[in-house]
Amino acid sequence: MGSTDEGYRHYPGKNPVTVISDITGHSTCIGEYVQFVQYFRDRYSRLSEIIRGRINARPIESLKRRSFRRGRDGGSEEISIIGMVSDVNSTTNGHKILSLEDPTGSFSVLIRNTDNELFELASRILLDEVIGVTGSVTNDGNLMLVTKLIQPDVPNNVQRRTGSHGKAVLISDVHVGSSQFMEDAWLDFLDFLKGESDSEPMRELAASIRYLVVAGDLVDGIGIYPDQEMELDILDVYAQYRKAAEYFREIPEHIRVIISPGNHDAVRQAEPQPALPESIQADFPQNIIFVGNPALVDLDGVRILIYHGRSIDDLVASIPGVSYQEPAGAVLEMVKRRHLAPTYGSRVSISPEKKDYFVIDPLPEIIHTGHVHTLGVQRYKNILLVNSGTWQAQTEFQKRVNLMPVPARVPIVDLADFDVKILGFD
Ligand SMILES: [Fe+2]
Ligand SMILES: [Fe+2]
Repeated sequence: MGSTDEGYRHYPGKNPVTVISDITGHSTCIGEYVQFVQYFRDRYSRLSEIIRGRINARPIESLKRRSFRRGRDGGSEEISIIGMVSDVNSTTNGHKILSLEDPTGSFSVLIRNTDNELFELASRILLDEVIGVTGSVTNDGNLMLVTKLIQPDVPNNVQRRTGSHGKAVLISDVHVGSSQFMEDAWLDFLDFLKGESDSEPMRELAASIRYLVVAGDLVDGIGIYPDQEMELDILDVYAQYRKAAEYFREIPEHIRVIISPGNHDAVRQAEPQPALPESIQADFPQNIIFVGNPALVDLDGVRILIYHGRSIDDLVASIPGVSYQEPAGAVLEMVKRRHLAPTYGSRVSISPEKKDYFVIDPLPEIIHTGHVHTLGVQRYKNILLVNSGTWQAQTEFQKRVNLMPVPARVPIVDLADFDVKILGFD
């Protein structure tokens, strides 16, 4: 492994990997107020920069100056601001009022329910996301009437890079140690990776695999939810990792494996999470690279953003039409906001680092998430969104909340044309 001035970690070889962005070893957070301010400044400046190319925004503070409120023709002039959403309210008439904040001040903007398209978009806006609005300021100077609302999103003309060759296998939520872990299916999967399938096409497919990426919840952990021990086969978390290491030693050495943690893993719960500790890594073979959550990684020319996906719980709860059955739809909402976990202080506990590791910039070719145990594949403006399923059958908790997992299904991405095949091992 080598590293450069930018802090990238390079793993050379036939199947090279470069870790572009990852909190591991860079955490600065001590939880003081000033750090929250720094964290939100970084979020605002990077997301507003993305929007700034598309509207001519002025600082919020300048709206208080009366000269901006009258156009040359005496009518009210259209102006634009970019702000972080600090409050979302409805008026008694059913219009939306958002409070927007930039480093110079805050301002209320009104979206009327008479403009269907605009109102529908406003109804999906989340707390703490950064948006741009255009409109006119009312005569009393206290409110903007919005005519246009934009999210950072992805430009329409974004060109995907040319890709690479070979295949990447995307999995997550293995949950080793759980009594619901589907070991038979998992062992079939390992046989497939080893090139021991009965069919020739499957053996050929296995031979083309260069990378395997795990997006969190490698083990079931302990004490993650009440009474979890009732559903554990392995009660010691280190023994769970030793068992996982035993499985991963079966994977052929030429396959580069990347492991990122999730909320069931033995690292801090606050995100961004660092890579699993050295003491756990030591049990695993040399072909495995441990990264944090989230992590932006380059696989021989293809950038993949790995995020466990805890914020999907927030997005399902707050955006109409986003569901656990179609998890890639939640990831699409992240891309529109160019942020993996827009709302602060909800289900995702976010550690206020100097840099906001959740900002989606630069754009990757692939975003790989997990966590919700359902499978989803979508494409959005040349970005491939994959939520891989799980290797755990339905747990008691999932029965209670009516969540039907999709276990033992494996998306395989062709790194040349981004075609996705899904293999079943159940
Ligand atoms: Fe999981
Ligand atoms: Fe999870």
